[in-house]
Order: sequence, then C-alpha cells, then structure tokens
Amino acid sequence: MPILSQVNNESINVVALCGSLRQGSTTHAALQIALSGAEEVGADIELIDLREYRLIFHGEVVDESEYPPDVFKLKKKVKRAHGILLGTPEYHGSFSGVLKNALDLMWFEEFENKVVGLIGVSGGKMGAGNAISMLRTVSATLRALVIPTDVSIAQASEAFDENGNLHDKELTDRVKAVGRQVTKYAALYNSGKI
Ligand SMILES: Cc1cc2nc3c(=O)[nH]c(=O)nc-3n(C[C@H](O)[C@H](O)[C@H](O)COP(=O)(O)O)c2cc1C
Repeated sequence: MPILSQVNNESINVVALCGSLRQGSTTHAALQIALSGAEEVGADIELIDLREYRLIFHGEVVDESEYPPDVFKLKKKVKRAHGILLGTPEYHGSFSGVLKNALDLMWFEEFENKVVGLIGVSGGKMGAGNAISMLRTVSATLRALVIPTDVSIAQASEAFDENGNLHDKELTDRVKAVGRQVTKYAALYNSGKI
C-alpha cells in the first residue's frame, strides 16, 4: 500500500455518496470507477448507497436526537472519511433532491477540511455541468476542499456497458483520476505538512 495514502498508520478513507436511487444507476457505476481509482492509490473505500438508508427530510423532527438511526449512521461514515466523492445525475439543471437532502442532514463536522471530488451524469448531450457547479458551491459552503478536476458524463445511458464500465477509456481514466486525486490530497492535508 502506498505510504502516501496513510495517516498515523491508517489508510485514507474515501466514501462516495450516490445521488441516484435508480436500479442500474449510471451515477452509481461512475462512482464505482472513481472509487477504484482511490483504491489503486491505497484508500479504504465505501460507496454509500442511499437506498440502504431510511432517512428523513431535514426539519421533519424538532430535535436532532430524534433522527432515525440511519441518519446517525450516515453522518458517522461521512464524518470519519478523509475524502468524499459526490456523484449526482443532472436533474432539471441541478443536482438530485436525494443528494441535497442527505447533505442538508450534515454540517461542518462532516465536511470541513474534507477533500471532495465531484462527478455528474446526464441524459442529454450538455452534460452535468450545472449539477457539478452547484455541488461545488454547496461543498465550499460546508468548508470542504473541493478538487478542481471534476467529470461530467453526458448521454449516460449510452456511455456504460452492461457491467457498469465506460466504453470510453479516456473518460474512465478521468473518472478514476478524481478518486486518485481525492485520496492524494486528503493524505497530504492529513499529513499536517500543509
Ligand atoms: C427528474 C429528472 C430530471 C432530469 N433532468 C435532466 C436535465 O436537466 N438534463 C439532462 O441532461 N438530463 C436530465 N435527466 C436525465 C438524467 O440526468 C439521466 O437519466 C441520468 O442518467 C440519471 O442518472 P442515473 O442513471 O444515475 O439514475 C433528468 C432525469 C430525471 C428523472
């Protein structure tokens, strides 16, 4: 395991939050690829599939102590991560409500000084640039360190094969690079050298 990806003898932990609940989601597939890039440089990885979490909308309970257990489980996983990948489909020129609500359940304690990488997919040819730029704003508001390189995958339904691999090798490398960079910048930040 590359020593760069360790902090106090522990591996850098990178989680990916998937903003699509759809069976066969291309966002999910893209995040798997990005996580494989993170793993290649020594990260411990986990894809957080929000289908497996029974969340509530922010504001449904009066006091946070009333949150259902899965909200605490989600917050804990994100809080202990050094790096976070946010993946979303482009929905009506923005990112998905599922991801927005998950982010609204979190604050600085989960995101401050975390290295964040962004990936978006779209049905149309224009790509997911709007969703990504809005996620960049949200991440910065949560005081995360967002890496400059993001990836938008246009016409996602044609971009992947049945195994969730991208047909385009160059695009695969760019998606993997987001995972690699998040891991490396998180290692650098947590080394205390910057
Ligand atoms: C409610 C909704 C809104 C959408 N809005 C857009 C859009 O504004 N631009 C676009 O290119 N595709 C749009 N799409 C298509 C999705 O971006 C596309 O199907 C994407 O692959 C879905 O991601 P997934 O495969 O991870 O579920 C929309 C889809 C839905 C369901």
